[in-house]
Amino acid sequence: MSAERSPPEGLLAALSMVREDVRAMQAYGVADAKGLIKLDAMENPYGVPRELKDELARRLTEVALNRYPDARANALRAEISNHVRLEPRLDILLGNGSDELINIIVLSCAKPGVSIMMLGPSFVMYRAAARMARVGCIEVPLAADFSLDVDAALAAIDKHKPQVIFVAYPNNPTGNLFSREKIEAIIHAAEGLVVIDEAYEAFSPDSFLPVVSQHPRLLLLRTFSKIGLAGIRLGYLIGATPLIAEFDKVRPPYNINALTQACARFMIEHQDVLVEQAAAIVAERDKLADAMARLPAIEVFPSAANFLLFRIRPALAPSAPALFALLKERGILIKDMSGAHPLLAHCLRVTVSTPADNLAFLNALEDALRAPR
Ligand SMILES: Cc1ncc(COP(=O)(O)O)c(C=O)c1O
Repeated sequence: MSAERSPPEGLLAALSMVREDVRAMQAYGVADAKGLIKLDAMENPYGVPRELKDELARRLTEVALNRYPDARANALRAEISNHVRLEPRLDILLGNGSDELINIIVLSCAKPGVSIMMLGPSFVMYRAAARMARVGCIEVPLAADFSLDVDAALAAIDKHKPQVIFVAYPNNPTGNLFSREKIEAIIHAAEGLVVIDEAYEAFSPDSFLPVVSQHPRLLLLRTFSKIGLAGIRLGYLIGATPLIAEFDKVRPPYNINALTQACARFMIEHQDVLVEQAAAIVAERDKLADAMARLPAIEVFPSAANFLLFRIRPALAPSAPALFALLKERGILIKDMSGAHPLLAHCLRVTVSTPADNLAFLNALEDALRAPR
């Protein structure tokens, strides 16, 4: 029998092997940015400067591609430890992006019947990790102004005793920093682990790094993705050495490929470039926020990250999906967040980019807001 005519029951039987909840899921959607100015994924627009590229290429050609990478990436971990001035009794776990580390943490703690907790709206992968590990995900809603509702969070901790609490600092997609005192209240009330996700730390005036060693249940998550290296997929987790050792058992072997290890080491040696780029993005963020705040049709929220969340005023502007489409017609790709969460009604998110990209976005935004409705 030819392949085309093979009975569909065979395929159905094959598909029935996959978990029902997986079959009901949607794959993580990534918009096609071909031909568009890409302002949807919080990437750094600058890339490796031309003057470093040849040296980086030379370094990468020295990598033994026929060999498995250093399984524990010891040299890279040592350089990151040095970079963050890691305190004694703390260790570092590397992940293929911080996404992988979120999965490792949740899987490691996924005892039957337990839950994790997040403050929503926040990064979607916390919930996704819980779903794949078959544990509950308690979402404590933020206040309407996206601040942390600490009473609700403490009540949820008391009621559900979450195994792990994820706090994004600054938060994605809202961009704000929650009150440090409120997060400390959560850390003190928690019986489980607390992960402070500092994916946007390079753009933020504050960090929990100095206090990780004071709380055995505290973990700090960071990524190279937002500082110009999204393509190499590298995240790191800092926590008490024995805890990191447990998570290390769940980490897939050789999860950090040899090219990523070499590239990250090279860029840490040249970190001044990344620091300069982040500073330029922060300056641009503040300029862009000021310019957007002058548009009566939108409200811009404060950001300590490399993106801005804004809400359209429905009486004065097209709907968020319509504005997204109008911007796309004008060559700009941002992210429509309006359907993602009840608190994000009428909201869109734009990544801060180069002065030229930001100006193109602003011009397109002003033009789109004038479009007939
Ligand atoms: C809060 C937060 N954590 C983690 C990540 C994942 O980053 P990575 O590229 O390291 O997987 C993101 C990505 O957008 C994020 O917003």
